[in-house]
Amino acid sequence: RIELKKLFDRSSDFIGNEVVVKGWVRSVRKSKKFSFIVLNDGSSQDLLQIVADADIENYEALSTMLTGTCVSITGKVVESQGKNQTIEMQAVTGEIIGAVDESYPLQKKGTSLEHLRDIAHLRVRTNLFGAVFRVRHALAMATHNFFNEKGFFYLNSPIITAVDGEGAGEMFNVSTLDKQNPAKNDKGEVDFTKDYFGKDVSLCVTGQLEGECHALGLGKVYTFGPTFRSENSNTKRHLAEFWMIEPEVAFADLDDVADLAADYIKYMIDYAFTNCRKELEFLYKMPFTDVDASHFETLAAVRDGEFKKITYTEAIDILNASGQKFEFPTNWGDELQTEHEKYLTDVHFKSPVTVTDYPKTCKAFYMKQNDDGKTVRAMDVLVPGIGELIGGSQREEDLDKLTKRMDEMGMEKEGYWWYLELRKFGSAPHSGFGLGFERAIMYITGMSNIRDVIAFPRTPGNCDF
Ligand code: 4AD
Ligand code: MG
Repeated sequence: RIELKKLFDRSSDFIGNEVVVKGWVRSVRKSKKFSFIVLNDGSSQDLLQIVADADIENYEALSTMLTGTCVSITGKVVESQGKNQTIEMQAVTGEIIGAVDESYPLQKKGTSLEHLRDIAHLRVRTNLFGAVFRVRHALAMATHNFFNEKGFFYLNSPIITAVDGEGAGEMFNVSTLDKQNPAKNDKGEVDFTKDYFGKDVSLCVTGQLEGECHALGLGKVYTFGPTFRSENSNTKRHLAEFWMIEPEVAFADLDDVADLAADYIKYMIDYAFTNCRKELEFLYKMPFTDVDASHFETLAAVRDGEFKKITYTEAIDILNASGQKFEFPTNWGDELQTEHEKYLTDVHFKSPVTVTDYPKTCKAFYMKQNDDGKTVRAMDVLVPGIGELIGGSQREEDLDKLTKRMDEMGMEKEGYWWYLELRKFGSAPHSGFGLGFERAIMYITGMSNIRDVIAFPRTPGNCDF
């Protein structure tokens, strides 16, 4: 069996040869003397057009296949007469692997994205989702290549955890134990597996704290895994389960990781351009995306340009001088809301912008405190169309300052004993950031809803698959 990707990438090697292809029927057009079958096997953006003459073996079955049928076809690869494809196939014989009936839900063109979300088990067979998931794969590979080339070590941080790494109280609890009335097993013993062996634990919101441990031993590490947030945000940019890439670098300051973040984003753009050209061309044409073909130039400019960098204080000044009416206030100390971030990226700068030195009240406990006593060495990388793509900071490496801040914030320090010990045993300046993988995919593909760039989205109230 030859995959369509290989067939189209190396078409001249195959012209004149007989090969076997396997995949799912996109459409069959039947006429008296022959039929056209369009086949998709998921490997490429190109679909194969197959011509089946009426005199071939099994013609009746092949010419009446419904959309969605899984089929194996043997045929000769020939140069295409049509102008949209380089090659097509002249069928010799074929065999149905898996039939479908009329209830197959992907018959009609123009099915809405909402409807396709309800059939997430099948939507990957469409051109749109095939493209999205091939790009997602490519960006994952780009991530590993980028950090590997720079000498980072890949850390698999735990998913089940006892501490809240962001201190924001947005964790999903894993425990189900009712302390008064605990679940019992067959022998009448308390079933501790219901409660993580008697301990109160949750799903991680970040791998950062473990990343810091390993950075202060291996030097440069990155995580790439699922993270979970129980925030009840029903937006196009929030998931309850999303993937995050979190590099952490010993001896680095905020400027160092801001440069790293810009290089990483540029690398992903370049990688997608090189490896997913056809997917991006297809996506930018689709009405589902927020962009058009000019997105190639827009992203190329980001890849080739410098990232703008401003402080939070400067951002507030820009917003207040804009004359724009915002829903949320923009006094110094207020959180930057999506509308503010969008103004900065989409209207003011028309490019990505890194905002640094936020008020400490807007940010997590672990960030390095500036000498002004008011701000922290934080950064958010904002990008057009999305808003916040990256959040990061230099970490507070001073034990006294860190514990004082945790006390101020009313945090229970006990569970963080190991994290605090990093500041006792050979502490060092270090910095890192987290990039929301799905938001990066949205940015590069132009897809407008985060639910459409992850295979089986988890959002408030949704866990059907
Ligand atoms: O800004 P956040 O919360 O930062 C952290 O988790 C740090 N521990 C990162 C670090 O310094 N190592 O999240 C980082 C990024 C955000 O900028 C956003 O892109 C993404 O993760 N993100 C989400 N993506 C989808 N759905 C959600 N609910 C998200 N919450 C954050
Ligand atoms: Mg953030």
